[in-house]
Amino acid sequence: MTSNTLDTAIERSEQAAASIERTPERHRMLTGDRPTGDLHIGHYLSSLRSRVALQDRGVDSFVLIADYQVITDRESVGRITDSTLSLLTDYLAAGLDPARSTIFAHSAVPQLNQLMLPFLSLVTQAELQRNPTVKDELAASNRPLSGLLLTYPIHQAADILFCKADVVPVGKDQLPHVEQARVVARRFNGRYACGVEIFPEPVALINDQQIVLGTDGRKMSKSRGNVIRLADTEDETAKVIRKARTDSQTTISYDPERRPEIANLLTIASGYTGRTPAVLADEVGSGGSSALKRLVTDAINEGLRTHRQRRGIFADDRAQLLEILRDGNARAEAVAARTLAEVREVMDMTY
Ligand code: TRP
Repeated sequence: MTSNTLDTAIERSEQAAASIERTPERHRMLTGDRPTGDLHIGHYLSSLRSRVALQDRGVDSFVLIADYQVITDRESVGRITDSTLSLLTDYLAAGLDPARSTIFAHSAVPQLNQLMLPFLSLVTQAELQRNPTVKDELAASNRPLSGLLLTYPIHQAADILFCKADVVPVGKDQLPHVEQARVVARRFNGRYACGVEIFPEPVALINDQQIVLGTDGRKMSKSRGNVIRLADTEDETAKVIRKARTDSQTTISYDPERRPEIANLLTIASGYTGRTPAVLADEVGSGGSSALKRLVTDAINEGLRTHRQRRGIFADDRAQLLEILRDGNARAEAVAARTLAEVREVMDMTY
């Protein structure tokens, strides 16, 4: 993505955010996650809580569990129902309300998936191969490029366009996909609908929460033991933070360049307290690493107390979780069926 495209995307995002402030009810958001395992504090800070805020402000909300996407970069889906329900549990615990937000799995909505066929006709192989996110995922997967990995940005365009979402809250890594969805919408309207706007061009709502790293300063990953999961207990959280990497200086300061591990811990505490990392650093000051770790542990455990309590209640009721998901699937299906009917109509395929 060139810096020019990025600037334009940021500008569009800011305009959309301002419009949401003024008239939330005029917007529909869609976003989602792959069910690959338990969510951690990074997910909570960078995406979960801002989605809940959009819902609470009155934006019509769709949240998708991207279960087919799990097989873009791995051999098998593993225990997909468990991962899906665990993701749903965190959505509910964070405050997504199934009465106001449509939470669903994209594999359960055939009409959404069928949009992929006309959409695939609108892009070239070269465009797909240029997609930076596809390239990164291919490099990370250690596998030959599958047809699904190559085309998944188009599947994701179907995720977004089936419900005609106009805003898509995502991190910067997902921008190429939203760009791709914009291209698909534009070309569909031009080529198959004589310029009638069947699909609005969606706008990425870019979240600017600083990326949170693991407690060793590297990317969070289960195998490194540097992750704090939303499902962890307060004691487990304290234990991971106790082992967090710091440095030998006795006074705490916020210096992302020279003291990245300390800065990361301060960023986490900042996320949960609402105070800036620099202010928190001053507060800890000569208390050093042990005082910092206490502060971070308390910030996370207090910040997540309600979430974890609610999580425990939902997690114990698998039947209820399945019922909530099925209800969301049915609502998404009704929306997708209307869109597919419209698509068939403009494509002259109603028999
Ligand atoms: N690709 C996203 C991720 O890996 C998940 C996702 C699937 C998504 N479909 C989407 C995000 C549609 C936003 C809109 O996190």
